[in-house]
Amino acid sequence: MRKTIGITLMLVVLCAAVLIIGCERRQAGTDGLPLIGAAIYRFDDTFMSYVRNTIQESAAGRAQLSMVDSQNQQPVQNDQVDQFITQGMNAIAINPVDRTAARTILEKAMAAEVPVVFFNREPFAEDMQLWDKVYYVGARAADSGTMQGEMIVDYWRANPSADRNGDGVLQVIILKGEPGHQDAEARTEYSVRAIRDAGIEVEILAEDFANWQRPIAVEKMDAFWASFGDRIEAIICNNDDMALGAIESLRKAGIFSGDSFIPIVGVDATAPALQAMAEGTLLGSALNDALNQGRATFDLAYALATGANPAAAGWNIENGQYVWVPYQKVTLDNFRDFQ
Ligand code: GAL
Ligand code: CA
Repeated sequence: MRKTIGITLMLVVLCAAVLIIGCERRQAGTDGLPLIGAAIYRFDDTFMSYVRNTIQESAAGRAQLSMVDSQNQQPVQNDQVDQFITQGMNAIAINPVDRTAARTILEKAMAAEVPVVFFNREPFAEDMQLWDKVYYVGARAADSGTMQGEMIVDYWRANPSADRNGDGVLQVIILKGEPGHQDAEARTEYSVRAIRDAGIEVEILAEDFANWQRPIAVEKMDAFWASFGDRIEAIICNNDDMALGAIESLRKAGIFSGDSFIPIVGVDATAPALQAMAEGTLLGSALNDALNQGRATFDLAYALATGANPAAAGWNIENGQYVWVPYQKVTLDNFRDFQ
């Protein structure tokens, strides 16, 4: 009898301990707000800094947000996720460094039952299917590629002199984001496809990765100019920073002075890109809507952190897990609406 009471008591104490620890992990922040951890693949990425600012603004007064810089290193981000879990975050929002690592992050989060919102770098579908408390916020990269292609088509049709060597073929250079990034792959594929679909023959003179970064794009473009020079008839860049790098490089070669022009398109519609459009150097871009991507990311994380239904957070959730924020074509006719 005594033994049974002893064991029962021990069990009660154990259960209480588990409950307390459990509660502690689920504790709200000091001011009663839910705890949300957010990791950005790198803080010094232009577009991601817009998304980051929006998440921060959305969180003001609603959540205790902890935002960290993963410094473009997956191991650093994995440690940050571990820390978020130990800190008792109620939900986490992750912009993976390497989207193939989403699974590792997800497994950690699932084990600790901390819901996850991935954004901007899309995990593989099979990883997304591992849990129903994981969401993705992003944009359909193919659409931005199609928009870029269409802008080049319009320019080509309106400007016969765009065919610099008069061979009826469009000679292009492509500056890509990063290997394996869904946006880099889809934008490259669909921009070229849109040009070919319009019945224009395309010759890709060269393509290379510039990791979304302007200084790298300058370097790559300097080399491409040295190899192909005047044969270059258009430059398609997976984002605006690289387009601005290409412009910087071509300026040194005398392009964009007087009548000299080469059509260059980017994606994101960043402030400096819109400025370049006003100056007449950048032909066009596609708005990558940081505001709505940031808001959707926060709203889903907030719903998950507070135990609310994400479907009621005000965003259209497709296939139960995806929020797709549309791109918008930004041309010389409408860019002022985005400034
Ligand atoms: C893309 C964006 C790039 C870069 C990248 C980071 O959507 O166009 O500029 O920010 O995300 O993953
Ligand atoms: Ca040509």
